[in-house]
Amino acid sequence: MIRKMTNPEWKYYPKNMGNKLHSLCSYMAMFPPSIPHFFIQKYTAPRDTVLDPFSGRGTTPLEACLQGRIGIGNDKNPLAYVLTFAKTNVPQRGCILLRLAELEKNYEPSDISVKQVEWQIRMIFSNYTLKQLIYLREQLNWKTSNVDAFITAMVLGIMHGNSEGYLSLKMPNTFSMSPNYIQGFVQTHGLKRPKRDTFILLRKKLNRCYQKPKVKGKAYNQDARHLRWIKSDSIDLIVTSPPYTHVIKYGKFNWIRSWFLKEDARKIDSQLFHTQSLTRYLKFMTGVLAEMQRVLKPNGVSVLVLGDVRDKYSKIEVNLASHVWRSCAKPLDFESIEEIREDRIPENTKVSKIWGKLKKGRATKVDRILVLRRRPGLKKEVR
Ligand SMILES: C[S@@+](CC[C@H](N)C(=O)[O-])C[C@H]1O[C@@H](n2cnc3c(N)ncnc32)[C@H](O)[C@@H]1O
Repeated sequence: MIRKMTNPEWKYYPKNMGNKLHSLCSYMAMFPPSIPHFFIQKYTAPRDTVLDPFSGRGTTPLEACLQGRIGIGNDKNPLAYVLTFAKTNVPQRGCILLRLAELEKNYEPSDISVKQVEWQIRMIFSNYTLKQLIYLREQLNWKTSNVDAFITAMVLGIMHGNSEGYLSLKMPNTFSMSPNYIQGFVQTHGLKRPKRDTFILLRKKLNRCYQKPKVKGKAYNQDARHLRWIKSDSIDLIVTSPPYTHVIKYGKFNWIRSWFLKEDARKIDSQLFHTQSLTRYLKFMTGVLAEMQRVLKPNGVSVLVLGDVRDKYSKIEVNLASHVWRSCAKPLDFESIEEIREDRIPENTKVSKIWGKLKKGRATKVDRILVLRRRPGLKKEVR
């Protein structure tokens, strides 16, 4: 029986652990850097290897690299992948500035027509800004070059928000509202698309968030159940927060950033895991934990942050951490080495308040942290 423990130690740490690179771009359901920071300190030494198989904006691998560990991030979502790639392979500041200067020099607005772009995107940016975005979207090779990935991540970070540091009309930063909602809101409130210079804002963003971690890491774009680029018995620590049961559609709620990446939002969602069925969720998590067991070194530790969810039909709160422990981790012969910790999250950090009427997701305010150790003995076969 696992006892539960409240008031986690990381609550007393500073926001972002004083590291400005964490703010490169916001991401839905991101966890605070203080959580991986605490467990990296507790369970690893410098040069150890730390993995997050659901890395999102890259919080765990970045925090690992900043602490002199080798941070590895993986996420099936291309948006998460580019953010993780940018943070684990940070180029020299001079290389970024040179590339920006080259891009700006070769930019020729008269060659570009905004008509080629769908109305949903055109209603958000002024023609002046949109031409720059269309150009950068064509030029930036974010899949192969770390300099271009860093610039792309900065564009994604300033793409939409509610101040003069952003390229769009006034709107939430963390996620995109639906096109029809934006259209209605723009008409009702008479919002105007601001004329913003992307190159100027990118240089300002670079000044705000640039930081070079001590150690380089790695980024992958695989399904978390098949991390084929990661060797067996190679990872010292995993710190991760897997998707919950059907709370977030990362593609749909990031359709503006997906456009910039030339990725189809619906296709992204079809490739990510989400379900409303607890049975299917536990089957998925069994596959994920089996893969974690494969890549972990004997005695390696895995920290899972799992939010409680409310069942869609019965409206009963489901303690996912306890289900994952009993139905997935225990049968795989993981050892639970800490009491489950409870982390209560203030309601107002869950959604942006800028546009008032937003609905809250079904995720509740309680996150639970499960700490598991891979036993040194033989691993069980999982089907
Ligand atoms: C709760 S978020 C992780 C957020 C992250 N901790 C952060 O701080 O940004 C869960 C992540 O799981 C990813 N995901 C969903 N299904 C996946 C799968 N089958 N394989 C790999 N990643 C997946 C989503 O894209 C999302 O980024």
